[in-house]
Formats: sequence, C-alpha cells, structure tokens
Amino acid sequence: MLTRRDLMVGAAAFTGSAAASFLSAGRKVEAREVIAEPIAHGVKSIVFDLAERPTALPCFGGKTLPLWTFQAGTPVPIVRVKLGERLDTLFKNDLPRAEEVATIHWHGLRIQNTQDGVPYMTQKPIPPGREGHYSFVPPDTGSFFFHTHCNSTEHFGRGLIGLLIVEGDEIVPPDGEVVLMMKDWRIGPDGTFLPFSTDEGAAKGGTPGTVRSVNGETSPVITVPSSANIRIRFYNLDPMRISEIGFEDAQAAIIATDGNGLPPMTFESWRLGTAMRVDMLLRTAPPGGSVKLYDYYSKEPFVLAEFKSEGPPKRNDTFDPTPLKVMPFAKFDEANAQIVPFEFSATPTGQAVAAIGAGPGIEIGPLCLAKRTFWAINKQAWPGHDHRDLGPPLAVLKSGQSYIFELDNTTPRSHPIHIHGHTFEVLNSSKRKLPRFRCDTVLLIPNERIQVGLVAGLPGKWMFHCHILEHQEAGMMGYIEVV
Ligand code: C2O
Ligand code: CU
Repeated sequence: MLTRRDLMVGAAAFTGSAAASFLSAGRKVEAREVIAEPIAHGVKSIVFDLAERPTALPCFGGKTLPLWTFQAGTPVPIVRVKLGERLDTLFKNDLPRAEEVATIHWHGLRIQNTQDGVPYMTQKPIPPGREGHYSFVPPDTGSFFFHTHCNSTEHFGRGLIGLLIVEGDEIVPPDGEVVLMMKDWRIGPDGTFLPFSTDEGAAKGGTPGTVRSVNGETSPVITVPSSANIRIRFYNLDPMRISEIGFEDAQAAIIATDGNGLPPMTFESWRLGTAMRVDMLLRTAPPGGSVKLYDYYSKEPFVLAEFKSEGPPKRNDTFDPTPLKVMPFAKFDEANAQIVPFEFSATPTGQAVAAIGAGPGIEIGPLCLAKRTFWAINKQAWPGHDHRDLGPPLAVLKSGQSYIFELDNTTPRSHPIHIHGHTFEVLNSSKRKLPRFRCDTVLLIPNERIQVGLVAGLPGKWMFHCHILEHQEAGMMGYIEVV
C-alpha cells in the first residue's frame, strides 16, 4: 500500500502547491481492500480537484466558458502509466453545487469492482467538500479514459473528462505519437452553454453540440515529422456524436480498437460512437506535404485534423505496420458459450416524444435519477429503480465462463453499448461485414443485431449501458452481475 509520503511526493510532482494544500488540509480517505490484481512495479500518484474553471478554448472563438475540469491548467488531463504500475488517485470534489456528487469511473479498465466508480452500486458517491481515493494496477495496455458517472450529460458537456494511457504495447516504437480527443460543445449565440439535454434529443439520437472540436480547436493543424510512422490515438468523447473517420490519400492502419491491439488493418474508414477509441499508424506525407483526417459521417466530410510534415524524411521503407502486443485475455470458448439475449428498445414514452418532438419540459430529476424513461434494455428501463435500491441484474454470469451476448437493436437509432470491467470480442453482425476485434463499447447501427463473445471477469456488479449519455440517463442502462 501507499504511504502518505508516496502520495505527497507524487502529488507535489504532479500538480504543485494546490495539491499539497488540500492534502495537508486533513483528508479522509476510505481504505479499500484490494485483492487478486497484478503485482505493481512502481506507483504513479495523481491528485485531482474537480471544480469549475472558466476556460477559453480556441474553438470558443474568444469566449470564456465555465468548464468543469479535473485539474487546474489542463482542460483535459492525460494520465500516462506504464503497464505494471499502480495508479493511485486522490480526488477532491469541489464542484459548484451542493447536490453535485461525484465518483470516477475508469472506462475500459478491467479492474476490481470496488474501484469502478459507480455511485451507490460500487461505492458511496463523494459530495462536494469531500475526498475520494482509487488505487489499482491496470491489467491491460491501451487508450482509456475516465469520467464521473452521475449527471453525465452535463459533466461531459462541461468537459469533465480525462484520458488514461497505459503504455507498454509497442514492439517497434513509432516515430511519434499524437492524441486526438473529439468533442462538441453546446454554445448558444450569446456565448453561454445551452441546456445540455433536451427531451427531443434524448428521445432521438441525442442533443447535438453547436461547435465541433478536436483537442479544443477547430480542425487543428498538427506538425509531424515527414515520411514518418506516427501513432494516433483517436477518442470520440462527444456525449452523442457518431463519427466515421478516415484519411484521404494516405497509408494508414488501425492497430487497436478501444485500446486492444489487433492485426494491423488497412481501412477506408472506421465508425465510432461516443466513448469509442481507435489507435492508428499513419505514414505522414513527404516534406512540405500534409494529410487530413476526415469525419465522413457529417453531411459534408469534415476535417478533424491536418498533419503537416516538417523536416527531413524519416523513412523510405514501404509501409508495413507492426502489430501491438496483445494482452493475455482469457480465451473465449465459442463452442461452449451460452447465449444471452439483450434487446435495446424504445419505450412507448420515448417513441411518443420522438414522434411529437420537443414536448413540455420534463425536468431531469435529482442527479443520477433522471425520471425520463425513453429507452430500455430487455424491457427494463433504468432508473425505474432507484440507484440506492437496485433492481435485479440483467444477467448473472459465472466468472471465467464464456458467453455470447446477442445485442439486438430494435430502434431506428445507433447505440454504442458499453460494458464495465470487461471487453467484448465482436463475432458477427446481421447487417455489416465486420472484422473480429475487441472492444469495451460496441456500436449497434439501426435495427442491427450483433453477437459479441465475452469471458465473465472479476466478480461484482458491472454497468451495461448505451454511451449516448442522454440514452443512458433516459433508461438504456442496467447491470450484469458476475459471481
Ligand atoms: Cu464510460 Cu458507464 O461508462
Ligand atoms: Cu443509445
């Protein structure tokens, strides 16, 4: 376990005096039992202070907006740990409303259920003025992220997101790395935030942003070495947007999906719903040239970012991407896997609201307890049950056993379906030819049925929900229990 000194040293190195002051202010950290996880080689300690911080991102066009962030000075922190390192996080909730409780969920990480950061279900939520603590050893490499798990549409809408990169998967190091985080913002003509959610949006595909951004800029131009192999970690962290990304005229390969290495796959384009990530290897343009990354899902192809080559060429070999190391996952036993069906549907209320458009405002109730149930999984709409008084799990699985989840989307909308603490292996689709790949969030397109393989992991209650945040908050959420 960590000593106080370890925390102090790590904290001071990471955020300086602000961290030191709230640590010394006397913290109440609940000790947690940590069992059956990888042995740690070293510790990385971080300190967060969740608070409102007026910020002027370049994409705001001169305006300053009241963002909510994890740290002062970095709108979206990028935390990097090496495979095998323990990550120890101390956080203080300084959000500006008395009712704004918080927890931190580590999206995509197969860690202990006690560290999963779901309010009421895996821990008590942390109210403003209080501190919380997480400690775990990430078992897999990859491009992950973290976020709160309550009032998520607003939290994402205000930018309360951080990236977590677990390093150690490269067999051949690339010539450089670029991290791209795509997210829209809902800003009105007067330069203030618009309501983050609307009934009509929640009952359809989500309420769209008005300003697009990648790393806080509109179509940033990024300088890269010429004729080089650059690793790009692309994150779709918009609350609702679906994107289909691709390069025009460039040699590139997908090397990981949701952080999971796969045999390099040349691609025309790749579709990502919110919360999905893809790692790519790009051969940059020769000196003086540039390559553009597009989103083809928009009405007009939209330039997400431009990679401008600078300096002498790095390489003159043919483009032949080396795969990333693949983590030792339990082997999925397809022949003996039990099929578990899930239907993702709209409720009659949801259908009605979608048909009539914006109705009289149904207020989002107390935080975490949105009363609008427009969506359901297996006809069960969360939160038909209070978070504090959980209903039955959608399924009970035995740790170590193989299952096929049959995910049936009976709606005319897309749904990126996410499971906590596990990864899926995509097996087949009723509508598309998909490669076999591993992910923690799988995109169901309208009326599509997808089968995914899964080996039930660590015991506990694991959330299973659509990651279009308004769908999640309007009922398309449940949990799986692993025993
Ligand atoms: Cu990003 Cu419940 O998840
Ligand atoms: Cu959805």
